[in-house]
Formats: sequence, structure tokens, C-alpha cells
Amino acid sequence: MLYRTFVLCILVRNTWSSSWKSEVEEGSKVHFPPWFKFGSATASHQIEGAWNASGKTPHIWDVFAHTVPGAISDGSNGDVACDSYRLWREDVKMAADLGLDFYRFSISWPRILPSGFPNHINEEGVRYYRELMDGLLEVGIEPVVTIYHWELPQSLQDLGGWTNPLVVDWYADYARVLFTLYADRVKTWITLNEPMVFCEATYTLGSHAPGILSPGIGNFLCNRHALLAHAKAWRIYDQEFRHKYHGKLALTNNLLWFEPDEGHGDEVAELVRELGAGMYSHPIYSKEGGWPPVIEKIIAERSRRQGYPKSRLPPFTKEEIKFIRGTYDFYGFNYYTARLARWAKPGEVLGKWPHFGTDELNISLVVKPEWKKSPLDWFIIYPEGIRRQMKWLKRKYGNIEIFIMENGLANIDPRLDDTDRVDFYREHLRQVLLSIYEDGVNVTGYTAWSLMDNYEWIDGYHSKFGLYAVDFSDSERRRTPRASAFYYSSVVRTGSLVLPATYTSYTASSSKNALSYITIVINFMLALSLIK
Ligand code: GAL
Repeated sequence: MLYRTFVLCILVRNTWSSSWKSEVEEGSKVHFPPWFKFGSATASHQIEGAWNASGKTPHIWDVFAHTVPGAISDGSNGDVACDSYRLWREDVKMAADLGLDFYRFSISWPRILPSGFPNHINEEGVRYYRELMDGLLEVGIEPVVTIYHWELPQSLQDLGGWTNPLVVDWYADYARVLFTLYADRVKTWITLNEPMVFCEATYTLGSHAPGILSPGIGNFLCNRHALLAHAKAWRIYDQEFRHKYHGKLALTNNLLWFEPDEGHGDEVAELVRELGAGMYSHPIYSKEGGWPPVIEKIIAERSRRQGYPKSRLPPFTKEEIKFIRGTYDFYGFNYYTARLARWAKPGEVLGKWPHFGTDELNISLVVKPEWKKSPLDWFIIYPEGIRRQMKWLKRKYGNIEIFIMENGLANIDPRLDDTDRVDFYREHLRQVLLSIYEDGVNVTGYTAWSLMDNYEWIDGYHSKFGLYAVDFSDSERRRTPRASAFYYSSVVRTGSLVLPATYTSYTASSSKNALSYITIVINFMLALSLIK
């Protein structure tokens, strides 16, 4: 009966809306090209647990959560998280049930190298990831591996972490170990996840592990070393592994999309784009390499005025510029939210994330009142931003391949009928389609963050991003598909944003009741959303 309502509603909606009708008839705007890949993602610390098991040593997030009072909003830690170190077969099963082309996960540095260095390779850790990769490959899912998703071994943090220039070699040695172990299985590598976040949230805001407040100094050192480390790993792969394994590597950047506030020109937005995106992209993707010139100049002048003998943003040498430039095979892009940029008022306090050192530019970030809000104050929903950001990347760096490595919505309640998340995915994917068909952007893949609810860094278990809900009070960490899992699975399997009326093929292993409930909810919800 509900199915019939749903089909009827689609028909009514198609007749009523000429634009929708023509989109459907053209068959282009709701269908992804056949080569487009869909996946979902997690990160080791957010799901694995087993924080001190099987030879793993502590990393900066273990220590941060265990020792810094108030560091994590709900006082929790990632000691058990989704228990995926034990339950990884369930994760593979979920990825298979969704029909994913690939599953993006990360490797925990201290699980492979307990001392931080390759003097000892932890066989149990090596086996864990090998089994996970093989489990995925057996069901036809490509493993996409993040080498560094924020888990610096504490032993290396004690030596200065990302502010110590030697981190470039420490990281490159670790990356070489992973290439040696897994390059036969892994063809897509992410060198670093969101250096902008791990440098700025750590050093500019002091809010991420290891929580060292050093604005204007630590963040620039970290930025510099992260780019050199990435480049070194890329070059190692390029020289030693590519000819045999033919893989692809890039870092992935979390780009907030910026538009000018009313009454302000695009200049202000462009400047903050150069600070957010440019500082982590220009050295790699631009023709000339090096820091974005406009930012380099501003920081040098400010440093001089502040009495520093040199710029706080350490310049790259000519050799370093050359070394970093061109070290990519695609552009990894994570997208969540957007802001308006305007010149700050005198004495204005700029506040916390997503402000990230914009005081260097005297720029304040605000929210457009019409933009949709999520239950989390930082998370404003602006689907057009994903398209506009990709258009910007194309304009700045040419028509490089872009791979969306994260996009998803946080909620705070665990409900299964997550209609807001279904809307979020559909609206963002529609913008991706427009990027492909209208803007000619070379975007080839999309990754839903996240496969399941997990440990959301400083927000603990409060924020829920999962296609699957996880019951953290259950010792078996029961995973249950949400309506969004059902919807995303349909998109993945059909390559279309329209849920087929006959779509019943999704079979999750979890609760049958939950599934039929979700089926009803999603059909009803889609019917409603299609006629609105
Ligand atoms: C990204 C991060 C992910 C996840 C996501 C949701 O910045 O890479 O690990 O936490 O945000 O907030």
C-alpha cells in the first residue's frame, strides 16, 4: 500500500514539476555516469577500540582523552569505540550489504609501528589490516586506505610531533612500511587526512589532540611539515612502487566553502579560501608551487609588524617547492559546511571552529540566516557549497580528478528514521551531478561519512554520522541500518538519486523488523519529499 502511495507520489510529482520531469526524461541529471564510484568511510581511532591490545601503543588521541580533563565533550574515549578490531567482519558485511564500490578506512600508526619507527613491525597489527583488506576484496569492495588519520604515536609527539622537521622522515618511513606490506592490495591511498584540521584545530585553537595552543607558529610549522611529509610519501610510492602496483595517492582536504557576506566583495571570500584551501593545495596543485603568494605576503608583513625577525610562515626553499609541486594523482576533497566571510569589526572576537586563524586576515566568518541548521552549531547545511568548491578547484588548479572522500550529516539522536540525513545525501549528490553535467568537473567518486556511528573526536559519542546506528551500550556494539543506509544503497546500486518503486533488494543482516520499519519510513518520506 505504501509502495503504491510512493509510486503514485512520484508520478504526481513528475507531472507537476516540469523541471523534475525533464530531468527524469533526459535521464542525465539523476543518473551518475557508469564509471562513478560510491563508498563509505571510517577512521581507525573512531571505530577500532582495542587501544592497548595486541601490541598497539598509545597515540595522541588516547592520551588526550585519558589525561586532559574536559578535552572530550562527553568525557568519553575511543578505548572500545565500535570494537571494530574484533568486529571488522560485520563492517565488511555492512559495506557489502550497501553494495559499496570501495570502503575507506585508516591504519593506526602505533598499531603497525609501536615505537613510531620501523625498528619493530607489529605482526598482529599487520595481520588485522591484511585480513580486513582481504575480507573486502573477497566481496568485491576496493580498500581505500588512509595512512594518517590523526593517530600520531605519543612517542613521536613527545619529540615535538608535527612541529619537528624530522616528522617528515618519520612519516615517510611509516608510509614505506605500509606500501611494502599492502601495495598489492591497495590501489588508492590517502597520505594525510585533513592536514588543515589537524594543524589548525590543534595549534591555532588548541582543541584537538595534543591540544597545544600555538597560534600563528605551531599551525604553520605543522602545515609545512605535513606538505613535505605527504610529498615524500608520494615520491617514495612513485619511485619504488608505482611501476609494479599502479596505485593512486593524494592527501584529502576538508574545505569549508566561503562566500562573501552581504555588502562585501568576493575579495574577502577569496582571501579566506586561500587560507583554508590554498595553504594545503597551492603547494601541490598549482603550476608555480609554494605557499599562496597573497597569504605568504600578509603573514610576512604581519610578522614584521609584530617584531618577529622572520615570517612566522617559514618559506619553502626552491628545492622544497619543486619537491612538493605535482605530488598528486587526484584531489581528495572532504565537504561538510560553509560560511560567509566579512571583514572583522574592530576588536571583534572571532571564536572557535570553524574560525581557524582567520584573524591573521582580519576576517570573520558568519552564517547566512537562510541556511539550514543541523543539531550541531558548527554544522550549517549548504549543499550548493560542494559544487561551488569543486568549480573553484577547477578554476584554480585545472581540471584535475576530484574524489570526494567525505560528506555526511551529523545528528545527535540515534533514531533510525533519519530523514534529514537522506535529504542531506540526496541534495549533496544532486549538486555533484550538476558539477559533472553542468560544470564539467572531473569528479569521479563519492564517499559517505560514515559507515556507522563512531567516536567523533572531541565530541565523543554525542554526534552521530552513521548510515548504521551503533548501540554503544551493547557489549556487542549492535549495528542497525538507518533509512539513510537504505537510500544510499539504492543510489549505489542504481547510480540514480531516484529510489525505484520496485526497490526491495537491500537485505541487511540485522533486525528484520528494523528494516521493514525503515522501508516504510523511507518510502513514505521519499514520497513526501518528492511532492513537496
Ligand atoms: C572530518 C574527519 C572525520 C570525521 C568527520 C565528521 O573532519 O576527517 O574523521 O570526524 O570530520 O566530523
